Amino acid sequence: MKKMTHPATDLIHPKRAVPPGFRSLVPGTERASTVLFDNVGKWLNRSGFDESIYTYGTSGTPTTRDLRNRIAEWEGGFATVLFPSGLAAVAYAFLPFVKPGDHVLVPGNVYDPVRGLANGLLKQMNVTVEYYDPLIGAGIAAQMKPNTKLVWVETPGSITMEISDLPAIAAAAHAAGALVAIDNTYSAGWYLRAFELGADVSVHALTKYPAGHSDLVMGSITAKDETVWQRVKDMALQTGQCCAPDDVYLVLRGLPTMPLRMRHAEKVALDIAHWLKTRPEVKLVLHPALPDCPGHETWKRDFTGSTGIFSFVLQDQFNADAAARFIDALTLFGIGASWGGIGSLALTYNLTKNRSNWPHQGALIRLGIGLEEPSDLIADLEGGFAAL
Ligand SMILES: Cc1ncc(COP(=O)(O)O)c(C=O)c1O
Repeated sequence: MKKMTHPATDLIHPKRAVPPGFRSLVPGTERASTVLFDNVGKWLNRSGFDESIYTYGTSGTPTTRDLRNRIAEWEGGFATVLFPSGLAAVAYAFLPFVKPGDHVLVPGNVYDPVRGLANGLLKQMNVTVEYYDPLIGAGIAAQMKPNTKLVWVETPGSITMEISDLPAIAAAAHAAGALVAIDNTYSAGWYLRAFELGADVSVHALTKYPAGHSDLVMGSITAKDETVWQRVKDMALQTGQCCAPDDVYLVLRGLPTMPLRMRHAEKVALDIAHWLKTRPEVKLVLHPALPDCPGHETWKRDFTGSTGIFSFVLQDQFNADAAARFIDALTLFGIGASWGGIGSLALTYNLTKNRSNWPHQGALIRLGIGLEEPSDLIADLEGGFAAL
């Protein structure tokens, strides 16, 4: 039959069909900016909130919806929205729920960039951010104000690892009419059932254990119920927040091995934490599963496991320079942000600015345990101690 269209046009409109009978253990990757509609009626009646249809690349493809559904399922939430980084997800857990004149409560050990959001965009919006002691528990009731709209929880908190009493904080927040949002990145929602313990919103940096291979950044917000989800989704649609299906595929690729990777990191981190406790140079090991960690009893009650990130404090005679010498001497532990990926990482922090009452300034080292052989990691840390 004579061809009616130019070969260049044929490249754009191939005659293709989904091959019947093709089955694989892994999902395909559906990419799209334009999503095609069967007819104008469907186009005119579309809604970005309608999860039974696809409307445009920004509101998702089967690939991105697959990841959203899986996260909502494992967290036991209503639905999930994806964001291009964990920090973006953190920001969008605040923004839909506050307006000028509102007040929010944030723990003093919060992931530091949240302070940037507090001092930047939230301040510009005339939203007041007040910090609370992460170990305050039910006592947070005293900090609730009539205009408190959101209580942020991060447990264990970044770097200093305190474990907060989420049920007690949630009860006080709800009694005062505020929502509770948790940064659930530490446990990937795997070892902490945030919604059962009172959270309304659960945020993850998927960058960490879900993606798990140190090659992308992504975040998610899962809402406990439809009303909360509508507000997050609405703001995400308004501002075009979305993720590339190729990156989403990489997270989907990481999921089947996530529980194994987490179990491995848990075991190795615990072994290293116990070993660090035997070292004379170490004053304190801040690992949620060890009794020295503030809030350990809460961890035992609320968590079903620990992960690969924890901190330790050097004895008083070692200062910030000594901590830097220790880390610089490591060859397997990398120096860089993030955790939950393939390689182990070590960092020290200057807590004087935001945590001036933290008693162990300068000599705290945070380790993120990766997938290396544990004996090699211990040998590397021995090199760090030798450099002290
Ligand atoms: C507790 C916590 N929340 C959020 C984030 C932000 O994630 P991302 O790096 O994907 O922006 C991080 C990153 O380190 C984190 O540690």
